[in-house]
Amino acid sequence: MTATLEVATLEVQHVDVELGGVSILRDISFDVRPGQTLGIVGPNGAGKTTILNVISAVVPTVKGQVLFKGRPLGQLRPHRVRDLGIGRSLQSTHYFHDMTVLNLVSLGSLRNTVWGALRFSDHRKLARRGEPSRAAEVLDLLGLTHYADRPLGELSTAVQKLVDMARALAVGTDLVLLDEPTSGVSGAERGVVTTALSKLRELGVTIVLIDHDPGFVMANCDQLMAMNFGEVLKIGNPREVMDSPEVRQSYLGDSQY
Ligand SMILES: Nc1ncnc2c1ncn2[C@@H]1O[C@H](COP(=O)(O)OP(=O)(O)O)[C@@H](O)[C@H]1O
Ligand SMILES: [Mg+2]
Repeated sequence: MTATLEVATLEVQHVDVELGGVSILRDISFDVRPGQTLGIVGPNGAGKTTILNVISAVVPTVKGQVLFKGRPLGQLRPHRVRDLGIGRSLQSTHYFHDMTVLNLVSLGSLRNTVWGALRFSDHRKLARRGEPSRAAEVLDLLGLTHYADRPLGELSTAVQKLVDMARALAVGTDLVLLDEPTSGVSGAERGVVTTALSKLRELGVTIVLIDHDPGFVMANCDQLMAMNFGEVLKIGNPREVMDSPEVRQSYLGDSQY
């Protein structure tokens, strides 16, 4: 199959979102080809996490649609979208602090199960129904095996971020959505997250990556989308997007980066 005929892994087409009667996203369109990484940058409140919420069917659209491998997700429930193999890491991991690394990653391997809204005690029971072999595989991939029996809350922020990335990978490796994998991670530990991301890219995982660090996104993305106030400002080559006057003006206040 030639590149031009290849079906995009993810297509977001003219999506509008309203929450509580307020317009949050307007006319968002982009696509991500197989094995590519799309970065999303923009100030707090720009709507970045909401885009991941739309793809994972956690929030509804009022207009537009999302296609995964050419198939519209339509009205699928969030756990059905996850069962298609769309994994997602969360901006904050504090919900999971009392779970062990292996249990948390095992949750990612569950199918046909709604677990997001359950109490932690139920999470632990559910985790036993997951696939420990799948969980062990992704822990090994990201060099996390020796943390398997440790509660998440005992680990550094960088390792917590990697464990949540592992949980997303246990869901599937076709498309992974990563919400700020370096937020709260100290400079010295950022390399750990970069190494993990490089591994995913080498494996051919298609990635949507939200991050605040311009150097990180430019180094790790094939395409970059800059947003502001619920709209796409610019999308394209990461360096060109970061250097464009409109992005410098609105996202960075024209400061140095
Ligand atoms: N459930 C919700 N109900 C109402 N407004 C929301 C909800 N979730 C997010 N928002 C609002 O949507 C906007 C975009 O939020 P978000 O997508 O989290 O931004 P970002 O991830 O870029 O910081 C913000 O103004 C936020 O307050
Ligand atoms: Mg966010």
